Amino acid sequence: MSSQQMLETLSQRVQAMQASKIREVAEIGMTMDGVIPLWFGEGAWPTPAKIVDAAVKSLQNDAHTYQPNNGLPALRQAVQDYCQTHLKAACSTHRITITPSGMQGLMLSAQLLANPGDRVVSIEPNWPNIVGCYETMGANVHSVALQAKNGVWQLDMNALIAALTNDTKIFIVNSPNNPSGWTLTVEEQKVLLQHCRKLGIWIVADDVYARLYRHASVAPSFLTIAEPEDRLISVNSFSKSWSMTGWRLGWLVTPPECEAALGHLTEFNTSCTSRFIQQAGITALQECEPDIAQLKSQLEQSYRVTADALSSMSQVEFIDPDGAFYAFFRVAGLNDSVASAMNILHATKVGLAPGAAFGKTGEGYLRLCYAQPVDVLEDAFNRLRPYLS
Ligand SMILES: Cc1ncc(COP(=O)(O)O)c(C=O)c1O
Repeated sequence: MSSQQMLETLSQRVQAMQASKIREVAEIGMTMDGVIPLWFGEGAWPTPAKIVDAAVKSLQNDAHTYQPNNGLPALRQAVQDYCQTHLKAACSTHRITITPSGMQGLMLSAQLLANPGDRVVSIEPNWPNIVGCYETMGANVHSVALQAKNGVWQLDMNALIAALTNDTKIFIVNSPNNPSGWTLTVEEQKVLLQHCRKLGIWIVADDVYARLYRHASVAPSFLTIAEPEDRLISVNSFSKSWSMTGWRLGWLVTPPECEAALGHLTEFNTSCTSRFIQQAGITALQECEPDIAQLKSQLEQSYRVTADALSSMSQVEFIDPDGAFYAFFRVAGLNDSVASAMNILHATKVGLAPGAAFGKTGEGYLRLCYAQPVDVLEDAFNRLRPYLS
């Protein structure tokens, strides 16, 4: 059997999967010396030492065994307290499932809700994995595009409400959004919640960047305005706000009715999240508010340098992000963002993500993750300036 014949025996869903365009550029850049990598969504700063210490202590003192499917009771309780403190949301532990990453939380939400052929509505530009896991489950994803107007991203609420039809099963929204930084307002959330309630549509809110909101301690959350019986799933992660990308830890908040089903699904995916990682998560939630404040102040400096540099480049249209840690900017005349990111990589040794990775409407754009110290960004912009001016 040839390799091709072998691949043709894999499931149709796997054969339909698209390779990540971010990876397409990054895989090449990672083989080159001297590249400033701004392609992935992670910060340059290490995990706070308190979190690392908690994991080490747990490895030394705790059991090295399988853990409950839905997560350690103490971490579920810590998430409940976190939701109360930061979102004014009463989320009993029955509503909380611990997941080995935000990505796994998204996949669990897709496995929980989506049947082949279901209509799913999302917002574009969008981190491709969000819709990717729903497509893997056979759902049909339709996107409503954000528009860049007067230097900010805007959502056409009429277009979105019109897309959320009677036969829509799920609405997925990532706010603050990767790649654009666009963030839903409370007023928009209220209208959307009301509409989805009326039509029985599930809302899946990817809240992974909730704390990296530039205008307040936390971004507006559906959890604050919803009732426990609403068809709402909030997906969260320790990766970004606690600088824990490599740890793989996150959580879901769902209606309490989903607890058992999520336990079963977890059993068949990963069975559980490692105990020492969960212990580290408890420390993150209970002791690391000062670390989040410090990260946000570093990010604000990085944002300033980024906004100033990109706004001064004649070929660039900079669009102000409300949250997350990306600049998603349009470049005049750019119509093949993969080729352009590749050219920039070779010409300047700065690694960017191509806009086309974030959906059709992302073509013409590039994404730069600015979660880097100011001197690294200044070096990157000095290299990019001749190319983008
Ligand atoms: C919007 C969004 N959601 C979810 C994730 C997943 O985060 P993780 O799997 O690291 O928890 C990411 C990571 O980049 C993201 O950008």
